[in-house]
Amino acid sequence: MNGTALDVQGLGKRYGHTPVFSGVDLTVASGEFVAIVGESGVGKSSLLNCLAALDDWSEGRILHQGVDLGTLDEAQRAHWRRQHLGFVFQAFHVLPHLDVAQNIGLPLLLLGQPDTARVEQMLQAVGLDGLGARLPAELSGGQLQRVAIARALVHRPGLLLADEPTGNLDPATAKQVMDVLQQQASDSGAALVLVTHSRAAAARAQRVLHLTATGLHSA
Ligand SMILES: Nc1ncnc2c1ncn2[C@@H]1O[C@H](COP(=O)(O)OP(=O)(O)OP(=O)(O)O)[C@@H](O)[C@H]1O
Ligand SMILES: [Mg+2]
Repeated sequence: MNGTALDVQGLGKRYGHTPVFSGVDLTVASGEFVAIVGESGVGKSSLLNCLAALDDWSEGRILHQGVDLGTLDEAQRAHWRRQHLGFVFQAFHVLPHLDVAQNIGLPLLLLGQPDTARVEQMLQAVGLDGLGARLPAELSGGQLQRVAIARALVHRPGLLLADEPTGNLDPATAKQVMDVLQQQASDSGAALVLVTHSRAAAARAQRVLHLTATGLHSA
């Protein structure tokens, strides 16, 4: 689990002719936790979407464990995401018609590796033991976010990207969710890149980086 999980070199992003950021360099080791902060609109979500190969970038390179994501076509990117990426969205993005266990197990199903024991293990790990048969509508915001974290980690991805995962939560629930996210990432040796406006969440990271139009700088 040692080594470089993510290597970003000279990354730049434009929407049409409008530049968002350029000159982003970032290396994250396996098991490392990096927080990215910055003003609203500076491009944090755009950056995470690029790191997930969910969106195209305008210049620079993104390597994940030696794989140059820029050389992959759409189908190969989707395959890469399924195997290697966990993404925690601010707005949970759980599927309302699937129960909690089905939501958490979805990445394994997509990989053709359904594993109910692993889903049970994740339910326990995020403190949702016994709630597997509930529908998302029957959960609190903090519980939903823990479902999203379990789903992001169930397939043991090497790279975990989280976009303001505590943005919708009260401080006590946010702390609980961050505990789970950090513990699970560390247990599985995943590199964790967290975008957040929360000082408390950022303070947990090994490094805090500030995104500006001209790159990532030590905060
Ligand atoms: N699909 C898009 N097309 C054009 N412009 C976009 C698009 N998505 C985002 N932008 C613009 O790019 C800039 C960066 O947006 P982004 O969502 O990445 O910011 P952010 O740092 O995540 O902000 P916040 O902290 O509010 O979430 C903003 O000016 C935004 O308006
Ligand atoms: Mg954002």
